[in-house]
Amino acid sequence: MKTSNFFLIALMFAILAVGCTEEEGPIGPAGADGTNGTNGNDGTNGNDGTDGYGAITATDQAAYDAADGMRGGILYDNWTSTEAAISGIPAEVTAKKEFFRCKACHAWDGLGKSASYINRSGTATRPNCATSDLRSYVGSHNIKETFNSIKNMGGRLKSTSSYSDVMPDYSTLISDNDIWDLVKYLFEETVNVDLLYVYQTSGIYPTGTITYSSIGKDGVAATGDTYISSNCISCHGTDGTTLDLGGKTLGKFGRVKPNELWHKVKFGQLGSSMGGFGSTQQELKDLYTALQDNVKYPD
Ligand code: HEC
Ligand code: HEC
Repeated sequence: MKTSNFFLIALMFAILAVGCTEEEGPIGPAGADGTNGTNGNDGTNGNDGTDGYGAITATDQAAYDAADGMRGGILYDNWTSTEAAISGIPAEVTAKKEFFRCKACHAWDGLGKSASYINRSGTATRPNCATSDLRSYVGSHNIKETFNSIKNMGGRLKSTSSYSDVMPDYSTLISDNDIWDLVKYLFEETVNVDLLYVYQTSGIYPTGTITYSSIGKDGVAATGDTYISSNCISCHGTDGTTLDLGGKTLGKFGRVKPNELWHKVKFGQLGSSMGGFGSTQQELKDLYTALQDNVKYPD
């Protein structure tokens, strides 16, 4: 009984004390932020759009599947060549073929003016190089968009003769099947040169410079030597010096023109007895590595 009275009295004093407080203390600091809520639910899918510029129809896909990317490599080099077997080529084209070769504007490596062709300016007989990086273009566009780019990009040579750096109007020059071969080449048969060597550029087009290193990357020289003796020496000689390749031996070509060598080996040297070898990436790396030996394959 006494104990509970004591508590009652104590409680009354406490209430009084609180009631008598006259000045409030300062406001305490803000509490910590709460945790984020969970994400809302996904929305529902929209309706399909209508077919657009880059929509791949079943006919497109069938044309792509039937296309020949190895022939596309030949067309990329020179679609006016005998090997390409395209007839009815306009006289304006045969008069100045360089203005119509894909490689003349886009370079062997597809990197245009930003890599191996950084110092290749236009002349009266060849165009300036293009800005595009075809490799990244193909990485971010589908086969139909690429087809459309090749077929319809240009505004040049519909009927009159004209030579410039503008991409030709291929819709008037080559067939849809030829264009699909080119598309397949760009998607499946071109070789990413980054896998074959390291390059570094300085300066800007058309007076920049390019230097190559680690040519062949992790290729195996001994395997490359075997590849060369079974495929090349019958014409180029054991040490690669028999044929004059524009002032270069085979070895020198491999050391100074790695940007071009892969294309010639894989697709052939058009207009000569050398057909393409359809080489794999590994065979090219081994070949490149072997050709860096300037004792076995001298300048
Ligand atoms: C006379 C120079 C020239 C020739 C020849 C040429 N192109 Fe082009 N090409 C261009 C230019 C210029 C562009 C526009 C973008 C640029 O400036 O790089 C372009 C754009 C393209 C594009 C779209 C890339 C993009 O970034 O928009 C593709 C794909 C292409 N060319 C493929 C080809 C193929 C395949 C051939 C051969 C059949 C060819 N080109 C021949 C100059 C040329
Ligand atoms: C059937 C004979 C033959 C065979 C086999 C052959 N080549 Fe050639 N090669 C030639 C001829 C001919 C040329 C053109 C020479 C000229 O420009 O007059 C040539 C040119 C080249 C070129 C120079 C391309 C240019 O733009 O000037 C390279 C590089 C080359 N060959 C590499 C090779 C390699 C590598 C092999 C083996 C994988 C090989 N060749 C197999 C006959 C052959």
